[in-house]
Amino acid sequence: MSDINNHFKPRNFSDKVALSFTKFLRFLADTFFKKRYGHRAVVLETVAAVPGMVGGMILHLKSLRKIQDDKGWIKTLLDEAENERMHLMTFVHIAKPTSLERFIIMIAQFIFILAYSIIYLISQRTAHRIVGYFEEEAVFSYTEYLNELEAGTIPDQAAPEIAINYWNLPLHATLKDVVRVIRDDEAGHRDVNHKFADLINLKKIQKTSKKKQVKKEDKEKILN
Ligand SMILES: [Fe+2]
Ligand SMILES: [Fe+2]
Repeated sequence: MSDINNHFKPRNFSDKVALSFTKFLRFLADTFFKKRYGHRAVVLETVAAVPGMVGGMILHLKSLRKIQDDKGWIKTLLDEAENERMHLMTFVHIAKPTSLERFIIMIAQFIFILAYSIIYLISQRTAHRIVGYFEEEAVFSYTEYLNELEAGTIPDQAAPEIAINYWNLPLHATLKDVVRVIRDDEAGHRDVNHKFADLINLKKIQKTSKKKQVKKEDKEKILN
């Protein structure tokens, strides 16, 4: 498995847009939640569970329309959405959202589902890169959370039963163990989404160089 703190350096305009969008949302989350990690996790996991479902649905419909194999992408994305939803189901046992946070969750879902669907339809590559960067930030936040738990600034507590069952943790597992496995999940999603963006990018490059080649051949034919 790759390094937990992997960062993908932006290589083109699409990557830069994805990174700026992520940094802007990170700034909003930092300003609002500060060090309330449990509450932060509950609210942000409601957003994190959206892209996989949106991407999975759009690719599912595309596969039906084009009568084309999806190379396993749909299942990967739907599994990601399910896994993120389990993060939410776990953290709701750690922190109960306030009425304001519940309101934010509703507004955020409405805006994000629309925004992400539009981004996915315009540029699938940017959409996956955005999730790759979101997940980098998630890894970073869960590391901060873990550090506070290890230092004792945030008191540790028994792991919720739902987490013990889902990740097959020992019965005496604590919140620290839960944060560790969730952080591993986020690192996995990060790598998958960056990989998807890379593959789409590669396809685009191949398409452009093929077009250029055809143009060059046409030109040579005319000149000869
Ligand atoms: Fe998550
Ligand atoms: Fe995530």
